[in-house]
Amino acid sequence: MGGFIETMPAMFFGGSSAITFLHYDIDLPHLFHTHFGGRKHIILFDNKWKKRLYCLPNTTYALEDYDVANPDFEKFPALMGVEGYEVFLEHGDTLFMPTGMWHWMRYIDGSFSLTLRAWDQSISRKMAGVWSLFMHGAVDSVLKVIFKGSYAKWREKLAFKIAEKELKKGKPRN
Ligand SMILES: [Fe+2]
Repeated sequence: MGGFIETMPAMFFGGSSAITFLHYDIDLPHLFHTHFGGRKHIILFDNKWKKRLYCLPNTTYALEDYDVANPDFEKFPALMGVEGYEVFLEHGDTLFMPTGMWHWMRYIDGSFSLTLRAWDQSISRKMAGVWSLFMHGAVDSVLKVIFKGSYAKWREKLAFKIAEKELKKGKPRN
């Protein structure tokens, strides 16, 4: 780690059953996620599984219409065999998520969390974060504004194609 980004803490609140969609953080920080006041169910995936998770092209998030905790493998066959981590946080627990880690969260009880972000120590990873912000933030936003619905449909179709192609390759390397 290259030290905390103290000016950018983030607090999250959720009612019972509220969900945070499956994504990884766009600027590639390391994350310390501390939970308070209830329980939270979290599922994590290494970034090597990105394509198999139906990541939408030009974004850092997956298609939103599958249930990460209980996926429909017939509709989303590339999810079969994907290996992740399952975590249940209780009051006062802190979860460390390294840069690029995918996360999906469901509040079991109404509760809240605090995330502290940290840069990676290496210049190359910092540059990758800046590049990701540009590509997945600025470029994607511009394409959305210009092409609207047709862009959304195109990237959904492409996410399926990429996931199916990746499935044929087998388990990704680290
Ligand atoms: Fe996040």
